[in-house]
Amino acid sequence: MNKLTLTRPDDWHLHLRDGEVLPDLVSHTARQFSRALVMPNLKPPVTTVQQAKQYQQRIIDAAKKAGYPNFLPLMTLYLTDKTLPSEVDLAVENGLVGVKLYPAGATTNSDAGVTNLQQCDATIARMAELGLALLVHGEVTHQGVDVFDREAVFIDEVLDPLRKRHPRLKVVFEHITTKQAVDYVEQASTTDQGQIAATITAHHLLYNRNAIFQGGIRPHYYCLPILKREVHRQALLSAATGGSKKFFLGTDSAPHAKHLKEHPCGCAGCFTAAQAIELYAQAFDSVGKIQQLEGFAAFHGADFYGLPRNQEQITIEKKTQKVPASYTMGKELLVPLNAEESLEWSFLG
Ligand code: DOR
Ligand code: ZN
Repeated sequence: MNKLTLTRPDDWHLHLRDGEVLPDLVSHTARQFSRALVMPNLKPPVTTVQQAKQYQQRIIDAAKKAGYPNFLPLMTLYLTDKTLPSEVDLAVENGLVGVKLYPAGATTNSDAGVTNLQQCDATIARMAELGLALLVHGEVTHQGVDVFDREAVFIDEVLDPLRKRHPRLKVVFEHITTKQAVDYVEQASTTDQGQIAATITAHHLLYNRNAIFQGGIRPHYYCLPILKREVHRQALLSAATGGSKKFFLGTDSAPHAKHLKEHPCGCAGCFTAAQAIELYAQAFDSVGKIQQLEGFAAFHGADFYGLPRNQEQITIEKKTQKVPASYTMGKELLVPLNAEESLEWSFLG
């Protein structure tokens, strides 16, 4: 079977940035996806519902300008130590779909993130009451913990205690990278009122940490949470392709200008939006599970967030394509993951 038609997918974790780069960036995602859940880690971060609504409008305008009038950006709020429960009420009234937890210092533009999660308990309690999801960047930040262990330690030190304090809270464990995270999400009881699900990126399904060091240091494979050992990649691949509704697509496509990636202190983030569905197809196909792609890419996320499934369809084909060396991003160049390499699948539209 060379062609596969599936329901148009959604990207449940995406970085679009802002300003003059927005039309260039949004077009890559809107070409393939119906909706995307847009991350709020701008400079300054999107900490109020008013800012989120204004940002949403700028994305809609940019998508229209790029020729995609039907693309729907879904919005999140950046949680800080000072976010009030009343902002949660406003978020729900205004159709925001989640609140994003960045532990302070964990990743790009996370300086304003949460320093002590217990200070946010009243706000999180309100989220649990209203059913608004908490989207979690799951890494501890203390220097004593090895960068490859930050996710596993986060589960024991932060995530599990948080879910015990707020048993009704809806949680999305974002861009999981370890077997420990897969096991934690799988084992969480489905009868819990507070459900937990996880997004998985294409790059964590396709690569282990060797990719960062293959023949020299390769900055375009550097992201956070960082790529892990093969045993973890295998666990992610089984979770994504196994049909469980707890796992769904979130690219975490995170554009940075070429000169800031290829830099003595390069930024974290892989740009995958332009070939997103092809990368996932390659991962699913590698284990003979291409038929499971539609659920993962188009159904599980919508169902978790309580949103309607998309009606349109897309078609992909098992046909080689060459990834461009770069794209334009405003006045800068943007290098995609797999630049100038061949991919096995192509997006037909
Ligand atoms: O690699 C990453 N890049 N991880 C994140 O959590 C943030 C993202 C970004 O915004 O560049
Ligand atoms: Zn992200």
